[in-house]
Amino acid sequence: MPPKRIIIDTDPGIDDALAFLLALASPEIKLEALTTTQGNVTLETATRNALAVLELAKANHIPVVAGSVVPLVQPLRASAHVHGESGIGNSKLPTPKSKPREGHAVDYLIERVLAEPNELGIFPIGPLTNIAMAIRKEPKFAKAVKELVIMGGAVLEHGNVTPQAEFNIYVDPHAAHIVFHSGIPITLIPLDVTHKCLLEQIHIDRLLRIDSPITRFIRSAVETCFAHSESYGGKGCALHDPLTLATVIAPELLTLKELRVDVDHSGGVSMGKTFGDFLGKTGKPANMRVALQARGDDFVELFLQRMETLAKTISV
Ligand code: BDR
Ligand code: CA
Repeated sequence: MPPKRIIIDTDPGIDDALAFLLALASPEIKLEALTTTQGNVTLETATRNALAVLELAKANHIPVVAGSVVPLVQPLRASAHVHGESGIGNSKLPTPKSKPREGHAVDYLIERVLAEPNELGIFPIGPLTNIAMAIRKEPKFAKAVKELVIMGGAVLEHGNVTPQAEFNIYVDPHAAHIVFHSGIPITLIPLDVTHKCLLEQIHIDRLLRIDSPITRFIRSAVETCFAHSESYGGKGCALHDPLTLATVIAPELLTLKELRVDVDHSGGVSMGKTFGDFLGKTGKPANMRVALQARGDDFVELFLQRMETLAKTISV
C-alpha cells in the first residue's frame, strides 16, 4: 500500500509538534505540508514553531504555509498556561533555515486539493478556521477533499477549556459548524479518546535512554504539560493530536461510531460544546465517524516505538 498523503493543519502547540514527529516517523504516512493557524499561540508563533520542529527532525523540505490570524467571529485566544509562552513548553528549538511558503494557507489548501481531487487527507489539529474559510471561499473544495481527521470536541466527556467545550472547537465554534455541515467525510478524535493516551514520566525516562535531539526535545516540550497534568488525574500529558494519526497507522486501536454531531455556537454557557444525536432525535443522517473508545496504552507504546526509531536516525 502506498503511504497515505496528508496535510496537517495546526497551531503548534506541544502535542501538535509530537504529531508532526509521529507522522515523519511513520512509513504509512507521507506528510506533504503543514498549514498553520492561530490557536494555542498566535499565527506568527505557530508558523515559526512548525518550521522549527521540521528543522529539528531534518524535514525542512516540507512546506509550511501560514493561514488564519484570528477565528471567524470570536476574538483571538491562546493557551500559554498549557503550552508555555513559546507554544512548545520549555523546549529550545533550532532556528529554522527555511521560511514559510508565500501565500495564504487557505489558498494553498484549495490549490492542492483541487489539483488532485479525492487524493489528499487533511488532519486539522487546531481550530478549524482555515478549513472553514476554504469551504466558504471555493465551493468545489468540500467535494474534492478526500477526508478530514479532526482532533476536537468532547462528545460524552466534559470539556477542557469550559466545563462543556474542548479547546480547538471552543476557539472557533463557527468554523466547526461550517466544517461539520460541509459534507466532507470526517473522522472526529475527541477528548473522550485522547484522554486515554497519556505520556508519563516513565515514558520520557525510557526515551532518554537514546541520546538524540528528538528525545531531548520531547522531554523539554512536555515539562509544561506535566505541570498541568492534574486536569488528567495527575498522570501525564495527553497525546491529543498524535492520536489522529492512529486512523492511518493503527486503526484497530480506535472504536468508531457513525454519528450526527453538532456544535453549539449560540454564545451561551455551552458555547463550543459538541453533542451527538445518539438516539436519532434529529432524524438527520450521521455526518461523521467519531472515536468513542481507544486502546490508549497500546497507542502510547506505538508512539514510543516510533519515537525511538526516529531518534536513532537523528543523533546530532
Ligand atoms: C487540543 O487543544 C490544543 O491545546 C491541543 O494541541 C489539542 O489540539 C486539545 O484540546
Ligand atoms: Ca493542537
